Amino acid sequence: MPWKHSAEEQQSLRFDGNFLYPGDLVAAPNPDMPLQDAILTRRTVRAYRPEPVPYELFEQIVETAMHAPTACDEQRWKIIYIDDPAVLQDLYERGSAAVLTKAKQAFLITYNSHTDNLQYLDHVQSAASFIATFGLVAHSVGVGSCWLGHLPNKGELRRMFNIHPLFEPIALVTFGFYREKVKMRPRKRSAVQIIFKGRFEREGLQFSKAKNVPVRTVVRTLYYLLPPFLRRRLRKYSLKYEKKFYNEVYD
Ligand SMILES: Cc1cc2nc3c(=O)[nH]c(=O)nc-3n(C[C@H](O)[C@H](O)[C@H](O)COP(=O)(O)O)c2cc1C
Repeated sequence: MPWKHSAEEQQSLRFDGNFLYPGDLVAAPNPDMPLQDAILTRRTVRAYRPEPVPYELFEQIVETAMHAPTACDEQRWKIIYIDDPAVLQDLYERGSAAVLTKAKQAFLITYNSHTDNLQYLDHVQSAASFIATFGLVAHSVGVGSCWLGHLPNKGELRRMFNIHPLFEPIALVTFGFYREKVKMRPRKRSAVQIIFKGRFEREGLQFSKAKNVPVRTVVRTLYYLLPPFLRRRLRKYSLKYEKKFYNEVYD
């Protein structure tokens, strides 16, 4: 069986060497596309077509994505569907990722945090497994998505959405029909570089100092400690400093 490693090798989507055209999937959904093609052509998108994804289609995607693995096969996801522009705007003003202003639909994924495996946060892993699967299934039918971890404090989300104390908000996912094309994002490393056989090999690793994680963590914590009304006022200033995602080139 021929194994595919890059967008050039797949046949499900037009690819011009630089851009993929997932917008074609909106008119011609292809839920049966080969798994490798779906993996090689799915890309995060942060802006969508104006027409909303019908709720029934969203439900179908969720129904399939629910076959994702979960810790102990507990399948304890609860998903809050959001299509109220005022709620999306409110989340943005409270300090969530700016891409929310471009989305008309999203869901907040919560997972039952009643776990004895807190050290490995297996409830978070179970939610992540759903999100990754959702992204692939949605892609095959022309629905693009963006996984967002840049959110206000969990307590605030709990109050906004009336989340049960045993459930933990994990991430927000915006989604909508693909516009036309997306830039291919080449892989930064090869499998040989990330697989260690039996033992973590520390030699030769390079770490970026540019991220300045300690400072960013403190600033971020302080920002989210501010009351929402102050964060709303500061939002236009904080936007400038918002890093959507890192241009990561180091280990
Ligand atoms: C845990 C996690 C959190 C993320 N949070 C954000 C976010 O807050 N804002 C955003 O624009 N993208 C976010 N993303 C999307 C990534 O930026 C995106 O997956 C990455 O740039 C690679 O693009 P690709 O999905 O097309 O491969 C997140 C992805 C993951 C897995």
